[in-house]
Amino acid sequence: MIGVVVSGAAGRMGQAVCEAVEAATDMELVGKADPALEVALADALGEADVVVDFTTPETAPGNVATCLEAGVHVVVGTTGFDVEALREAVEAAPGEARCFVAPNFAIGAVLLMEAAQRIAPHMPECEIVELHHDKKLDAPSGTAKRTAELIREAGGNVHEPIHSVRLPGLVAHQEVVFGGEGQTLSVRHDSIDRRSFMPGVLLAVREVAARPERFTVGLEKLL
Ligand SMILES: NC(=O)c1ccc[n+]([C@@H]2O[C@H](COP(=O)([O-])OP(=O)(O)OC[C@H]3O[C@@H](n4cnc5c(N)ncnc54)[C@H](O)[C@@H]3O)[C@@H](O)[C@H]2O)c1
Repeated sequence: MIGVVVSGAAGRMGQAVCEAVEAATDMELVGKADPALEVALADALGEADVVVDFTTPETAPGNVATCLEAGVHVVVGTTGFDVEALREAVEAAPGEARCFVAPNFAIGAVLLMEAAQRIAPHMPECEIVELHHDKKLDAPSGTAKRTAELIREAGGNVHEPIHSVRLPGLVAHQEVVFGGEGQTLSVRHDSIDRRSFMPGVLLAVREVAARPERFTVGLEKLL
């Protein structure tokens, strides 16, 4: 059994992760940390093998440091912080505990990124539109920034700015529109329920300890 602590357990994603962990036969929910529950992460780590963090851009890097200091692996879904700064911090941290970060745990979003990389060499001019619920703190989304990075690596030209729509009723959506001579090609992904992220989160919980490197970014690395 993998002992899992959820950091940000009172939040929208944290609550969904708690339910998914409780339903998984190879995991046990051994702690819930959140200021809203008056439980600090450091005080919840007693039986933890893996922490799952869905908190805020300001707190996630510090939470990762707390986990690594305690020798606990950490899966981070929080977005909006400097990923490269976190990579440096994790690689410099003492111990062996691993950190896995994914800006999007939905398989459909990962496939969208792969499709965009396939299209980019042939139709390089493109724009990204990302749409989220109005409580989201960061813009553009971590998924959009990662998609832009991957398209540029594949030879595409992502026009600035990335377009961010924030409205009640939305969950997490993204469209990439490619334009060429006399044609356009659009790829779109819609997370219409937070359960869309849970198979990816559980996969990362199962795999994080066995990662060859201390710091890994992207669900595609586990597929
Ligand atoms: N990677 C993905 O697939 C994915 C999907 C959806 C959302 N997200 C990201 O997940 C994050 C959380 O989103 P949400 O909608 O659940 O937000 P939310 O505001 O509903 O929840 C965040 C929770 O974190 C708690 N928190 C704040 N500081 C904390 C700390 N130091 N320790 C522990 N808990 C703390 C808050 O009290 C709150 O309950 C955001 O960054 C969002 O962009 C990622």
